[in-house]
Amino acid sequence: MTTKAIEQRFGPYGGRYVPEMLIPALDELTEAYAGLRNDPGFQQELSDLFTTYSGRPTPLTYAANLTRRLGGCKIYLKMEGLNHTGAHKITNALGQGLVARKMGKTRLIAETGAGQHGVATATVAAKLGMACTVFMGQVDIQRQYPNVYAMRLLGAEVVPVTFGTRTLKDAVNAALKHWIEHLDDTHYLIGSALGPAPYPAMVRDFQSVIGREVKTQIMEAEGRLPDSLVACVGGGSNSIGLFAPFVDEPSVRCFGTEAGGTGPKPGENAARFGENPQIGIVQGYKSYFLQNDDGQVQETHSISAGLDYAGIGPELAQLHDEGRIHFSSVLDSEVLEAFKILCREEGIIPALESAHAVARAMQLAPGLPKDHIMVINISGRGDKDIFITAKHLDETRWVEFLKSEVQDIENH
Ligand SMILES: Cc1ncc(COP(=O)(O)O)c(C=O)c1O
Repeated sequence: MTTKAIEQRFGPYGGRYVPEMLIPALDELTEAYAGLRNDPGFQQELSDLFTTYSGRPTPLTYAANLTRRLGGCKIYLKMEGLNHTGAHKITNALGQGLVARKMGKTRLIAETGAGQHGVATATVAAKLGMACTVFMGQVDIQRQYPNVYAMRLLGAEVVPVTFGTRTLKDAVNAALKHWIEHLDDTHYLIGSALGPAPYPAMVRDFQSVIGREVKTQIMEAEGRLPDSLVACVGGGSNSIGLFAPFVDEPSVRCFGTEAGGTGPKPGENAARFGENPQIGIVQGYKSYFLQNDDGQVQETHSISAGLDYAGIGPELAQLHDEGRIHFSSVLDSEVLEAFKILCREEGIIPALESAHAVARAMQLAPGLPKDHIMVINISGRGDKDIFITAKHLDETRWVEFLKSEVQDIENH
């Protein structure tokens, strides 16, 4: 993958701010991964799983209709939703799952927001013959129920997290606590490019396959690199995965899109680089976090559970400060509009997370020249969001459908 040392810090960000008893586990993981990332046998095994199980390489699709509609630059879509389980999350789960098995671990635990990472981890656990427990906030369990059902089908135990805001950040805390109590046989499979070292670098390495594939595919399609890349940013794994292989290509502009939610007030969004960016140390790493004046993690909101997180991966924090990645946010209402447009124009139902990237691209594209090439990362597909989108976009028929389903269950 790379011969560079595994980064512990990204400028002032990252690091390991964890209880003393976790340090040996993080050291063990760092050592194991350092050996495996340059081991051709491991890389071959992972690459075989990518191609024969997950469906890589995912296509890069020219979006002719969207390009025509927006009237500006040429738009390509990187189709991560075509991965097995419906999102880029499986890539990192396969990578870490293999590392864990090589370390002799028999259990995987994970936190999940949208449920996509939980499904990916449960899938990998089933595939690799490992046990699996997933921690998920009670609020997210309600809004992403299809994924909860899938995780249980796949053999995972889903543990509802009922403290705090009952969303992703509380699920991370519950998973960390559980890990400390079960270090011997358990690997904590963190789902984004964040957490204490070595997670941010390790997750970035696994997800960088996205950007490497885009490089090859766009060279085939256009004979040159793209001019801009657009991705949504929750914790940051699909974005850093797309951007990392292009970071040293100064001609390529990178746009990260955060969740603008319903507005700019605290609690209404999850835009870490919004009105008042704040640096802090939370959940084992230093980065930007949405915090109140007392330094407590702020409540967040997004229409998409996968972006509803107060922190951001430390490498993205550094690249933000260096001006290498341009961050901005889009509102829930703009996301729903972009969601509908991608469905109708391209026949692609995107995840609501990915629709954030589409919404950002819709703002940028009309002002760009026709020979500008833009790649939007469609990080996942929208099946998982059907309970949210139907409620917003087709309420009456959806309510009728749900009522008839309940009636049906009651009658049997
Ligand atoms: C489809 C999809 N895209 C994006 C994200 C956000 O995570 P990240 O920023 O790590 O890519 C999620 C998280 O659940 C997701 O399910």
